[in-house]
Amino acid sequence: MTSTPNSLFRHYLDSLIQRGTTRASLTEEARDVLRTWYVTAKKGSRVHSPSSPSSPSSPSPRPEPQPTKTPPPSTNPELFPEERKPSSSITLPEGTMEDKLQYLRDLAQNWKPARDLNSLRDTMVFATGNPHTQLMLIGEAPGYYEEVQREPFVGRAGEKLNQILKAMGLSRDMVYISNIVKFRPSLPNQRTNNRAPTPEEIEACLPIIMHEIQVIQPKMIIALGGTAAVGLLGEQGSVSSMRGRFHDLNGIPVRVTYHPSYLLRSDNPREKRKVWEDMLAVMERMGMPVSEKQRGYFLPRE
Ligand code: URA
Repeated sequence: MTSTPNSLFRHYLDSLIQRGTTRASLTEEARDVLRTWYVTAKKGSRVHSPSSPSSPSSPSPRPEPQPTKTPPPSTNPELFPEERKPSSSITLPEGTMEDKLQYLRDLAQNWKPARDLNSLRDTMVFATGNPHTQLMLIGEAPGYYEEVQREPFVGRAGEKLNQILKAMGLSRDMVYISNIVKFRPSLPNQRTNNRAPTPEEIEACLPIIMHEIQVIQPKMIIALGGTAAVGLLGEQGSVSSMRGRFHDLNGIPVRVTYHPSYLLRSDNPREKRKVWEDMLAVMERMGMPVSEKQRGYFLPRE
């Protein structure tokens, strides 16, 4: 059998599981690989029709992973069957933007599709910032610190996000910051450790964020990390394959970039520059002033 980086990675994970390891720290690339496996396996287990063009030729509970460098560009109708529009099951009340957001916040608190999964924790973390903004940033899900403070992005990733905003000439109260999943994904014996939400958890919470977008009507959305990007856009792919251009979500441009926590793990200025180039593109598209100094951030020194 030939060893590919993916099969080696799977072997490594299997060996960890056999040794009883329940936690591992993963790079963004590794998380992308896992995400792709999960989605592919899920799709394989749900597709039964032999005439379906996406059915695997031989049913396999663990289909071979796709290399992350060449992700399938297709949307995933199995996981995200609806058009990327708010579902009709939520009817927003008449009133101000604040009234509508309060309605969504109350709704999210007891959101049955999410509660019924029994895989998310109880505390609901909604959003923060200025709803009258043109720029909306969407992350993955609250972590330990967000759950304690009931506010998105207040932990270390939040500090990194604040730095990014500052470099753009912005602050938290000038933008609207939310998450695609409103509850911290749970783990056995959980303390401060977090996990990324599953596609089911994302799908369950999706109507809430879609309605937030409908209420805010931002001119621009920044999807922070693969979970937000895949969930919002309904496309499969790694952040590396989705960043560097604008996507469209019901007429709103969406820029995908690495999650701030990726920058916490990687001290490489080239990775910082990639995020920064995404931010420069956002600033330009929104008509924000960009100084020469800003243009040069994280470029290699001569
Ligand atoms: N990571 C996220 O994606 N969202 C948060 O609110 C915190 C960390």
